[in-house]
Amino acid sequence: MTASGEFTDTKGVLTGPPTGRGAANWAGFFDSVEEVDLPAESVEGTLPAGLVGTLYRNGPGKRDFSQSFFDGDGMIRALRIQADGSVHCRSRFVETKKYRKERGSDRPRVRTPGTDLPGGFLRNILRTPGHEANTHIIEHHGQLLALEEGGHPYVIDRDTLATGGMLDFDGQLKSYQPYSAHPHTDPKSGEIFNFGVDFASPKVGIRSYRADRQGRVHAIDRFALPYGSFVHDYALTERFMIFHVPPLVASVLRFALGLDSFFATLQWRDDLTARFIVAPRAGGPVREFDAPSVLIGHYFGAHERGDELVIDCGQLGGWPVAAEDTASYRTSDWTSFGAAGAHRVRLDLRSGRVSSEPLSSLPAEFPRIHPDTETLDGRFGYAGCNVAPGEGGILRGVAKIDRHGGGEEIFDFGENKVSLEPVFVPDPGASSSPADEDRGWVLCLVYDSRPRKSEVAILDARCLADGPVATIRLPYNAGATFHGSFVAEG
Ligand SMILES: [Fe+2]
Repeated sequence: MTASGEFTDTKGVLTGPPTGRGAANWAGFFDSVEEVDLPAESVEGTLPAGLVGTLYRNGPGKRDFSQSFFDGDGMIRALRIQADGSVHCRSRFVETKKYRKERGSDRPRVRTPGTDLPGGFLRNILRTPGHEANTHIIEHHGQLLALEEGGHPYVIDRDTLATGGMLDFDGQLKSYQPYSAHPHTDPKSGEIFNFGVDFASPKVGIRSYRADRQGRVHAIDRFALPYGSFVHDYALTERFMIFHVPPLVASVLRFALGLDSFFATLQWRDDLTARFIVAPRAGGPVREFDAPSVLIGHYFGAHERGDELVIDCGQLGGWPVAAEDTASYRTSDWTSFGAAGAHRVRLDLRSGRVSSEPLSSLPAEFPRIHPDTETLDGRFGYAGCNVAPGEGGILRGVAKIDRHGGGEEIFDFGENKVSLEPVFVPDPGASSSPADEDRGWVLCLVYDSRPRKSEVAILDARCLADGPVATIRLPYNAGATFHGSFVAEG
């Protein structure tokens, strides 16, 4: 039995108060961008002495043919902060099969999840979508991997950003079994858990994986989904992998017949009940619970409190508004972000009762935490945000949210700036004490639409509202990125 009445259901919520911000405020953010290899333009302020390493970001770099926010050839942006205080910038495309096939072409040659080939269904029928490796970049047991939920990881050289091979982890992944873009690491065991949605089998399901301390990937389980839904991220606790399955259902048949792109087939089904699926990390039977009919984008983290699962997540704005925003991403005012927000969900494993409360009154998504607090009751989360309740538009600020109920503090980069996912980097001098959880820096790749250039803002997590302690100005537009990681040197 679900206490769905206690859950803030954002479905159908359009926007908050008008703010005057619109597509002109982030003009150029979705442009296709170029590969670069050059020093940063300048550094304002003082780079923290302990912050030496590379911020890697991934997101579409070439969108010439893309009809969806989610489409576009993956490009790795690397901002290398060196011990002498200099910063080097490098951007390079992930040379996927699709990228190589379309290089130099003036028309699309590969179908993607959000963009069908021109020419009608006969050009698209039975064509599986190309893999663009455009969503995340992580360090995975010593290898840098570019990830997208539609395919296998690509290995990226950490210095040159050259694309290596695609990994199937010694045959653990068959060609049609993807390795999703949001692996989570148990900081105690060092194991990395991930999943992939398997649309290729008659009954759509999830395959789960565990990478052991040596980096060997093992299949854990496969379990069916109640319907062919869109599952992008999950939450990890000490014993479980938790999946929220919204009633956002894809028509595999329409897609296979070439009648619509995958994203265009997604429909919100009021006649279906959303689910939480709780899968043991060790494998074995999963449990399903009725869940609130909302869209969850990403998770701060989750932990166990006896029989209760506590799940902190970023809820997205309502469907179909989010669908319209993602489909008309170049010109949209992105009102759906006005209904995004951070929530704490509690799931009682004994009673099945689910409840939710907001963690912040501000629109917020793209959450991150201190990596050592994954699976634990961490206190702080960081997220992209807007600066007034209900404010729509692409996110313009960064928030530090006290997940223990202490509110939030924010920094507003400005109405002509965009900042999506922040990355928290622990200070290497910090202890493992909870008192040091926020000792570190928050790195934001910020786009400024006035000069149409990007910058990296570095904020002290302990005084985030004071603004950047250093800003690295880039002499170019780095474009839109979804996710990234900082890899320390030394
Ligand atoms: Fe994501």
